[in-house]
Amino acid sequence: MDVQFDFSGRRVVVFGGTSGINLAIAEAFAARGAAVAVASRKRSNVDAAVERLGVHGNPVRGFVADVRDMESVAEVFEAVRSEWGPVDVLVSGAAGNFLAEANELSSNGFKVVVDIDLNGTFHVMRAGFEHLAPGASVINITAPQAMIPVRYQAHVCAAKAGVDQLTRVLALEWGGKGVRVNAIAPGPIAGTEGLARLSPGDDPNGDRSVRSVPLGRFGTTEEIADLAMFLSSSAAAYVSGAVIPCDGGGSFESLRAIEEAGRFLASAPR
Ligand code: COA
Ligand code: NAP
Repeated sequence: MDVQFDFSGRRVVVFGGTSGINLAIAEAFAARGAAVAVASRKRSNVDAAVERLGVHGNPVRGFVADVRDMESVAEVFEAVRSEWGPVDVLVSGAAGNFLAEANELSSNGFKVVVDIDLNGTFHVMRAGFEHLAPGASVINITAPQAMIPVRYQAHVCAAKAGVDQLTRVLALEWGGKGVRVNAIAPGPIAGTEGLARLSPGDDPNGDRSVRSVPLGRFGTTEEIADLAMFLSSSAAAYVSGAVIPCDGGGSFESLRAIEEAGRFLASAPR
């Protein structure tokens, strides 16, 4: 990147920050001087992330917490606040996904994704607000499914549409406190769990999903992190309530191609 960001002394909390895109965001902050706390459900993921982030030599904390449980989310903020002080950057990125036709989803199958993606984001926002520093940057990780209907993704489309609107409403309500709230909508990102679940069997080097992206390739986790750096910097001081795609130019085409790959999966015996 030919732009330098410096987050020395800033305090960053990333929910779901122990793998994939969210871990890359956590690492980008850690590499630029921030104290970074990550939280997710599995102790093994938390420990591995803490070890990886610690390489940068800045303070790191890891917490086992499930965003579906607001109390466990609140405990993370309380621990960070008492150890480091108020939070300058808050990222909410925990999510769950699988391909399933709406008619095959049980009540609990629909609910589990809404609980993690949407209710979990609300919990992170609701429990986090009182611990935010003046001028804090809040970033929710959404998905293009919030805007684009996709087969086998009724649960995700519904949940992420809620995340987009929650982002916009909180930008209205929190603007008066100087807090900016934005969302990033990644396109297909190479090497991630999210993409693997959506397009199993896709060849990242040449198949239709890749060719469907106007820029001709999948994105990288670092490219999503770059946008998070911008949104948390003074260069974005007047950006709030924005849902920003980072998708190589065309989520609609990419999702249609991925949907096609999913169609084959969904018709295969399970
Ligand atoms: N098709 C249909 N229903 C499914 C399903 C699938 N592929 N996978 C899970 N479900 C249903 C389950 O059957 C269950 O419903 P039931 O109680 O009526 O049987 C419900 O979803 C909850 O499943 P469970 O495995 O108990 O949930 P969990 O809390 O352990 O895990 C998930 C949550 C299902 C979202 C799991 O995939 C997960 O942990 N994902 C995190 C990683 C991820 O998805 N990364 C990509 C982010 S984009
Ligand atoms: P990932 O690697 O599976 O990351 C998900 C993270 O969330 C993990 O750290 C996971 O850790 C944690 N998590 C899951 N459920 C949780 C819960 N209930 N409570 C707390 N933490 C939980 O996924 P990814 O592909 O990088 O996706 C990250 C984000 O980007 C998601 O919001 C996703 O919707 C979005 N996105 C991804 C793509 C893509 O191409 N990958 C495209 C569009 C949008 P534990 O298992 O330890 O809990």
